[in-house]
Amino acid sequence: MAEKKIVGVKGMEDLFHPVEVRKWLKVERAARRVFAPAGFREIRTPILEDAALFERSVGETTEIVEKEMYTLLDRNEHKLAMRPEGTAPVVRAFVEHFTSHNVNEGRFLYMGPMFRYERPQKGRLRQFHQIGAEIFGSDHPLLDAEMILLIHQLFEDLGLEGVQLNLNSLGSKEDRKKYRQALAAFLDGVQEKLCDDCRRRIQRNPLRALDCKKPGCAEATKGAPLYSDHLSPESREHFAAVQAALAAHDVPFTLNPRLVRGLDYYEKTVFEFTSGELGAQNAVAGGGRYNDLVHELGGPAVPAIGFALGMERLLAILPAQAVAGDEAPRVYLVGLDAESDRLLFEQLKPLRESGATVELDFGGSSLKSKMRRADRWQADWVVIVGEDERKKGVAILRDMRGEGGQEEVPFSELFIRLGARFPTLHYLPR
Ligand code: HAM
Repeated sequence: MAEKKIVGVKGMEDLFHPVEVRKWLKVERAARRVFAPAGFREIRTPILEDAALFERSVGETTEIVEKEMYTLLDRNEHKLAMRPEGTAPVVRAFVEHFTSHNVNEGRFLYMGPMFRYERPQKGRLRQFHQIGAEIFGSDHPLLDAEMILLIHQLFEDLGLEGVQLNLNSLGSKEDRKKYRQALAAFLDGVQEKLCDDCRRRIQRNPLRALDCKKPGCAEATKGAPLYSDHLSPESREHFAAVQAALAAHDVPFTLNPRLVRGLDYYEKTVFEFTSGELGAQNAVAGGGRYNDLVHELGGPAVPAIGFALGMERLLAILPAQAVAGDEAPRVYLVGLDAESDRLLFEQLKPLRESGATVELDFGGSSLKSKMRRADRWQADWVVIVGEDERKKGVAILRDMRGEGGQEEVPFSELFIRLGARFPTLHYLPR
């Protein structure tokens, strides 16, 4: 009996569609183009980390750590976690390799898979990918603005439209503590209207009740105290400076006093970029300041700010036209006998070097079956050479796009035309 077919894991996707692959590469290239000149160095941290890293940073009472983390025991009974996000690993690496050598500044860019055991739905996966950046070394409000401006520039570079920036300040650690108390007291008063989760959150993590999506909770927390009323003068000034810098650079934003984010390490500026095209999971990117985390993870007191975007969500709103024309022309070489194959084989390297995507046909024996393969391969051009053509010193150049058509071209000239002047390929006579 045949074994049961093994299929991919729920909530984890294969990336293979050519247009999606091209979009993916385009976004990665754009991120490097925008962040490298701003002094960001790429960093790659492992997928597996000590589970305690996320418990201590993202927070033990957050959904991510409490319900969504993929954890495992290694053969030494050591508890590891597949990273649910990229900030804590970068901070860990920064403390290990930089602050330990008295380097207390740095800018890092990262890209890679993250894992959260969430209920899969549109825009929500269990393995998803982030591009993120972190800046260590200063609490200056202009850095917050710079971070946001760079994201804005990336979206502009990609031609993304309709993405909104939501902004809030959570104040300092002290402000936060006071606000938490005020909020917990308020939630206590409306307890009976809250869902079970939120009722449990009152003591553990009252902030989460503010972005509970259940209609009853949204209604009950309408009159809840706001962060903006609990900011110290210093935090208020910091936030005002961030807003002024964004306004000066014509970056539109909406103040959203209920924006609290789902990770515990934030303070002061937090932000989210959302898109109306995305449905319920509408955040394309999010981030904020975390001035205490480096210290909490064993380093010196180095303030920091960062962000991460969700690749799959970004791709979903990046129109296919964004990558139209990005692909190299595809040229398929068809020899009709061994000698023609040999002749064409010599042309693979120079043609590829000229920028085309080129394959020589190795399957099928009849011209008909070779052409079928060329079709399936989605060739733009097919070059056919057989004994007759070799004798005449020509090749047949067949245009596979649209109406098509073919012509006989002197062999030497064909490769000069196809190879040396690739941009003119589209203008070759049909
Ligand atoms: P986050 O808001 O949890 O922040 O995730 C950032 C982005 O990752 C989200 O805006 C979303 O686009 C994407 N994302 C999150 N979860 C999923 C999922 N299950 N499926 C698909 N996409 C998802 C962070 O992770 C912080 N580390 C960002 C940061 C960096 N803050 C400071 N520095």
